[in-house]
Amino acid sequence: MRPPRANRYRSAWAGSLDAARAGEEVRLAGWVNRRRDHGGLIFVDLRDRTGLVQLVLHPETAPAAFAAAEALRAEHVVSVTGEVVGRETGKENPALVTGEIEVAVSALELLAAAEPPPFPIDDSAEVDEALRLRERPLDLRRPSMQESLRVRSAVSRAMRDALYARDFLEIETPILTRSTPEGARDYLVPARTDPGAFYALPQSPQLFKQLLMVAGYERYFQIARCFRDEDLRADRQPEFTQLDVEMSFVTEDDVIELMEAVMAAVFAATAFPAPAPPWPRLTFAEAMARYGSDKPDLRFGLEIADLGAALAGSEFKVFSGALASDGVVRGLNAGAAGLPRSALDELTELAKGHGAKGLVWAEVQEDGSWRSPVAKFLSTEEIAGVGETLGAGPGDLVLIVANAPLVAGEALGAVRLSLRDRLGLLGPEPGHSLVWVTDFPAFAWDAEAGRFTAIHHPFTAPTGDLDDPGSCLSRAYDLALDGSEIGGGSIRISTPEVQAKVFEVIGLGAEEAERRFGFLLHALRYGAPPHGGIAMGLDRIAALVAGRENIREVIAFPKAASGADPLTGAPAPVDDSQLRELGLRALAPRPD
Ligand code: AMO
Ligand code: AMP
Repeated sequence: MRPPRANRYRSAWAGSLDAARAGEEVRLAGWVNRRRDHGGLIFVDLRDRTGLVQLVLHPETAPAAFAAAEALRAEHVVSVTGEVVGRETGKENPALVTGEIEVAVSALELLAAAEPPPFPIDDSAEVDEALRLRERPLDLRRPSMQESLRVRSAVSRAMRDALYARDFLEIETPILTRSTPEGARDYLVPARTDPGAFYALPQSPQLFKQLLMVAGYERYFQIARCFRDEDLRADRQPEFTQLDVEMSFVTEDDVIELMEAVMAAVFAATAFPAPAPPWPRLTFAEAMARYGSDKPDLRFGLEIADLGAALAGSEFKVFSGALASDGVVRGLNAGAAGLPRSALDELTELAKGHGAKGLVWAEVQEDGSWRSPVAKFLSTEEIAGVGETLGAGPGDLVLIVANAPLVAGEALGAVRLSLRDRLGLLGPEPGHSLVWVTDFPAFAWDAEAGRFTAIHHPFTAPTGDLDDPGSCLSRAYDLALDGSEIGGGSIRISTPEVQAKVFEVIGLGAEEAERRFGFLLHALRYGAPPHGGIAMGLDRIAALVAGRENIREVIAFPKAASGADPLTGAPAPVDDSQLRELGLRALAPRPD
């Protein structure tokens, strides 16, 4: 860091001092990390944002400072003046940047006392997350959190710099708005001025960024907060941050190449060893067939293969039944996995949890025959054909699912990831994989609701015949990093006719479409450019780059898994008078 402006508290950063500054008088400010009393001397590790430096206090040369130091406890806030001196030979600490020096204190001012913190501020202790979230300001003092928020800041800065360098304008869009359908439940805000009416918090700035394209801004970005009331997971928060981007007169390649440049800048800024772009692209169909996932982890092999040809004539009803009813038989070769029976049972349960009716396992014997519950139903030729397709030899474990294509894909995809972890397939230096997934189906049939739903959002441009929605693809693309979806976007619909037709496909009547999205349809009538964009999940990117398992580790003030904020106590009840003013009444009294 650049030197601070000298003032009454400090003239230098604690963590920046080294032997080159020996002899200099400095003023430092920060927190007491640790105090040690030693042979008549007091040593204090002083911490500021830049790191630690050792202070030494002598009773003879600075009696007042020494006396004050005797009362210091962890996390007291102090400002000290002293001289940078080299440490005695043998007393250096190579673990610290400042390890060759210490500061001999001549004056010490206690700026604030601290109660004993509920956990140590270093990273030595594993602290319960509920406590960490409740005591977040203290938790954020810990080096690991200081580091992860620094990484996050570097990520957003690299994004901003890369986009400014490419003439993008940063434009804010409203938080109090109408619902945008991104597939989650909305957070609603009651309107005092219109009792019974509600704002919705945006699930993304999707419609506003499209309106900015209609308005001629050409290249927009925003680091935008999004709100989605959905079940939380390690990589999901109810409010999260996107790098939101939109461009006019572009095709898929323009957006993809732009985002490759932006993300390469992010990886460079954070010294994250990602492969250089361009990154491979897979169609959704390929990704599902080969990896059983629309966000495939390409850091390891274990590809899924189609066994339809090898098993075409099979009399085994599980296989013949699937093949006769538009289904597929797919499998993978787990290699010499040596898995016990219990592990095979767990994998079977996993496959069933993803909708498969079962999981066939087979271990190839020395003579090429199978040890498998289904071996007796298969001919020698079929077994040989499967072995050849999967490249399976003696000792290898073969796993097979027969089902509808999507189910077989997802079940084997889950099995593939489980094998990655069980068999340690990533190895000690797994590297990183980035892959674009394109050509998603545009619509999925929702049997329960009896209608189609849009797989991305209903503003994504479809290709194909809208009178046969099930066959349409969309001009959407997702980016996956190491098996996590870190971004997604699409080329948009830019004519009111197509937009109205898509609303119709997803069962939104003309009247309802007009009521909810009339402002978009209206704007599209005034000359909309072809446009498209993407949104990147900033929290997920920061977590992956910082090597954290959970996005809460890269968010300063996250929500707990319950959706609540243990720090502020939100969500919290409000006064009856506030409710009355909003025209609201709670139907059920709160339990407490
Ligand atoms: P999408 O819904 O795919 O697209 O979101 C884009 C990216 O945001 C991240 N993300 C989340 N991160 C944390 N918590 C969540 N609850 C959460 N939900 C999503 C993911 C995801 O890839 N408007 C479109 C983008 C567009 O079409 O331009 C959109 O929001 O990393
Ligand atoms: P069943 O004929 O139902 O007793 O199944 C025989 C074997 O095939 C069992 O090991 C099942 O787990 C497996 N199995 C059943 N259905 C499927 C399927 N759709 N795909 C893969 N394996 C299956």
